[in-house]
Amino acid sequence: MGAFLRPGERQPGAFGISFDSDRDKNAAVVPTFNRNEKLALQEQRRRLPVFQHRREILYLVEHHATVIIVGETGSGKTTQIPQYLLEAGWCSHGRMVACTQPRRVAAMTVAARVAEETGSPLGQAVGYGIRFEDVSTPGTTQIRFCTDGVLLQEMLQDPLLTAYSVIMVDEAHERSLATDTLLGLLKKVQRRRPDLRVIVASATLEAERVAAFFDASTVRGAAAKAGDLSKQPAILSVEGRTHSVQIHYLEKPCSDYVRAAVQAAADIHREDMPGDILIFLTGQQECEDCVSMLEEEARKVRAGRAALRLMPVPLYAGLPAAAQLAAFEHSPRGYRKVVVATNIAETSVTIDGVVYVIDCCHSKQASYNPLTGLESLLVAPVSKASASQRAGRAGRMRPGHCFRLCTEADFQALHDATVPEMQRAELSGTVLRLKALGVDNMMTFDWLAPPPAETMVRALELLHALGALDASARLSRPTGQQLAELPVDARLGAVLLASVRLGCSEEAVTVVAMLSVHSVWAGAHGERKALEAAKAKFAVGEGDLVTYLNVWKAWQDSGRDRKWAARNFVNHRTLLRAADIRSQLCHHLRRLRIALESCDAEVSLLRKALTAGLLMNAVQLVDTANDISDPASAGINVYRILRSTGPGPPPKLRIHASSVLARTRPQWLVFWQMQQSSSGWFEMQEVTAVEPHWLPELAAHVYSHKGIRS
Ligand code: CDP
Ligand code: MG
Repeated sequence: MGAFLRPGERQPGAFGISFDSDRDKNAAVVPTFNRNEKLALQEQRRRLPVFQHRREILYLVEHHATVIIVGETGSGKTTQIPQYLLEAGWCSHGRMVACTQPRRVAAMTVAARVAEETGSPLGQAVGYGIRFEDVSTPGTTQIRFCTDGVLLQEMLQDPLLTAYSVIMVDEAHERSLATDTLLGLLKKVQRRRPDLRVIVASATLEAERVAAFFDASTVRGAAAKAGDLSKQPAILSVEGRTHSVQIHYLEKPCSDYVRAAVQAAADIHREDMPGDILIFLTGQQECEDCVSMLEEEARKVRAGRAALRLMPVPLYAGLPAAAQLAAFEHSPRGYRKVVVATNIAETSVTIDGVVYVIDCCHSKQASYNPLTGLESLLVAPVSKASASQRAGRAGRMRPGHCFRLCTEADFQALHDATVPEMQRAELSGTVLRLKALGVDNMMTFDWLAPPPAETMVRALELLHALGALDASARLSRPTGQQLAELPVDARLGAVLLASVRLGCSEEAVTVVAMLSVHSVWAGAHGERKALEAAKAKFAVGEGDLVTYLNVWKAWQDSGRDRKWAARNFVNHRTLLRAADIRSQLCHHLRRLRIALESCDAEVSLLRKALTAGLLMNAVQLVDTANDISDPASAGINVYRILRSTGPGPPPKLRIHASSVLARTRPQWLVFWQMQQSSSGWFEMQEVTAVEPHWLPELAAHVYSHKGIRS
């Protein structure tokens, strides 16, 4: 790892440049972050910066249809404002206050915290709703934290959101697809429901822009006279209570930021200064790898003389709830917690006790190319705004330090702000939902920032291919309507509907449930061979999804045995969640009056159903053995996408090494996910071998028999 430079004054001897190993390690201070714990919860509430604004907030909400609240992470927006509203009587007449979160983990942890503060069990007065899980009690719950996606789904049943008196759209700066969509819809709802209040809360935000978006006073000036309610949004800034954070950059760029992060953490630890460490990486695998490396480091340090012990804890979206909570617990006495997180910890959640942040300055982002119609996950540099949020996590308790794993020059080259998801994501789900809510013309919908027109066209194309739209581009009945109601991606919904026609819905619902969770296989750091051997036991030539089905069946046969799962490198907790999702999906199908049916050993029916949903992701193997035009791809697996991908060179696709078909390489495939490698390859994950004649059979409007030739 390169050494860190600090801005301005340079002080060798501190933080990873070189350090004084003779210092008296025994004099090190053990962190005492538990002081706050001793304060009564109510006292803690009063100490939050937002408390100073309690009356003002309530006044503004009373008098303005929309209130925009900007405040640093940790100032108390999420946990306190819904409680103030409850205390002020906004939950009378059986109405609730909703607070939306872009992330599942935030909705759950914040609901738990607020339930604790109000002194009622979670799920009673305070509840939460995330996809496939509702912990609230109708008629009793007054504050409901939910993901923005869940609220959008609720609008299908209750378009005016009559169950709520106030909707607080939280973490608006993240500009998630669902948040942006929700803001546009809320503006519409407000016209029909003058009693509804909207709060937009954010850590950093172009508040003026959102205010201008919601400003109805110019258009409907006359209405402003009615009562005291102003149609002009109010903006309130809540000052943070943060300490200074000193930023350090690398002297030379590093090639492996996971290793560099471990090194930086070890350096801080050897210095023996008190305070927990928060490391930002991009994804689950990196977090797990980093935790293993830190555990190794912890063993080494324990053999040394450090006063504190290292305690690495991962935190990423795919982790089961109970495991996620470990990251929020105070370090036990004598331990230094190192939370290894994805950008989940950037703003949505607060981890107390952090004094050091180590930032790889990258994140995993969805990237969609409307020209090719391909969506992939890509590890890319973060924006300066993101990096500054991450750094801010170090200054919550006292002055802190942030170590950026890049050079200062590289940092200066970063974009200022993150591009909103609406501009870079695939939009079929958004279009489907809006159509179900009666928004038929996407171009005239009131977007906070309109998505690219080509992306919209591609989304309509996909929905049309799935049979969700009729000739006039309205939602078809029943297919389009059913796809909108199923709480899964439109493509997976189409798999379910096709499976009903084909008589394999028992199997399809299992596969769809397993695709809705992350990582069926247990991470096996340093045991890749053993994992491969375990996979081979279930692997079949039909591909990864049929392999998942085998894993599911074997797990069921074991009586859902945790030990069986551990022996077979299968992620037990993931499967438990898949089981949960599966039963929820069955419930939804029953509501659509769809009975489940098994195809038993006839898995080709399941493959056909999968093809029906993933038909825009159909590819054919290209023979590259003799290809001299591109020596780099000669003789390796190269696939071409079958549908048209617009002008320009066709994208290069190959099977990701994690797939069970990585070596067999069948002629024809459909894939579910794709990742972009650093060398520009699109790597298909979760692939299924298909028969080419199924494509024109299932989708004559997309594929012709003539065009598909083996
Ligand atoms: O939303 P904002 O970032 O402004 O703050 P918040 O999430 O309401 O958090 C306010 C404070 O509550 C934090 O500083 C934490 O100390 C505490 N909190 C907690 O202890 N546990 C949680 N799950 C959430 C918040
Ligand atoms: Mg918050």
